[in-house]
Amino acid sequence: MKDSDSEFQAALSDNASRVTAVLDALMPLTDTPEARVVEAMRYAALGGGKRVRPFLVTQSASLFGVDSRSALRAAAAVEMVHCYSLVHDDLPAMDDDDVRRGQPTCHVKFDEATAILAGDALLTGAFEVLADPATHSDPRVRADLVLALAKAAGAHGMVGGQMMDLWAEKNHLDVAQITRLQRMKTGDLIAVSAESGAILGKASDEARAALHAYAHDVGLAFQIADDLLDVVGDAKTVGKATGKDAGANKATFVSLLGVEKARQQAAMLSEQAAGHLEIFGEKGDLLRQLARFIVERRN
Ligand code: IPE
Ligand code: IPE
Ligand code: MG
Ligand code: MG
Ligand code: MG
Repeated sequence: MKDSDSEFQAALSDNASRVTAVLDALMPLTDTPEARVVEAMRYAALGGGKRVRPFLVTQSASLFGVDSRSALRAAAAVEMVHCYSLVHDDLPAMDDDDVRRGQPTCHVKFDEATAILAGDALLTGAFEVLADPATHSDPRVRADLVLALAKAAGAHGMVGGQMMDLWAEKNHLDVAQITRLQRMKTGDLIAVSAESGAILGKASDEARAALHAYAHDVGLAFQIADDLLDVVGDAKTVGKATGKDAGANKATFVSLLGVEKARQQAAMLSEQAAGHLEIFGEKGDLLRQLARFIVERRN
């Protein structure tokens, strides 16, 4: 491993530990009758994950000198939405998966109703975190964070993408439609992660647009890499079942273009993403490395 690779890995894992500690503190176990839903939320949010979205939040925030406490809270909020999306994605009514992050999925460990409620509470909890004055002293910044995350997660963002994803099991999609689906289901949450740092830092429109363009490409590359892992990955390393997309007859970049072309497309997007960071100079190095990491990852 090159020095820069190990530096990047160390930064990613250091940030993951910090965000996990914040998530832990945000969801304390209680001794009340509703404790089970909190246990399920903690199970879904604290047990692993690469924490790529929180890394995007804190790295983009650091470009603008944002206080790390603020950045970590915003990072935790985005990860809560992501974890909720995974809990619901794994439900029998959706992808019906038993393993997530190398562990039984939330509905297998608890039960379906509890998993649905845990997902609901992770989603609403994320907005509670963002709206709390502890996240930023300026209410305008907090409102902007809430607005951006709500748009990215909602009917014309992640949820809309998930709807199209189910539709794609029964209908033929061309490359343009798959691109839109993937950008919505995965890209929008990744884009808002990078943009959140710019919002917290009251960055210029130019800087915010550069981060948006970067994350737009990273997001699509990220989902292509996920689809490739579903085909060529090893379930133990990936930490979830593989072969699921083909099994469900799901149209993906890989099913449409084949493994080689999908790989090329992901690599091209990753390079293109890094290109958008020019205005940040060396300060953007870890984000550049992240763009490479997401297409070269094994899990
Ligand atoms: C998996 O996301 C779901 C997709 C949107 C592709 P990640 O690959 O980020 O999952 P974790 O958080 O590392 O488990
Ligand atoms: C899920 O995509 C994207 C979400 C919004 C959760 P996938 O269904 O491909 O994610 P995995 O492969 O189960 O992690
Ligand atoms: Mg899915
Ligand atoms: Mg799935
Ligand atoms: Mg997948």
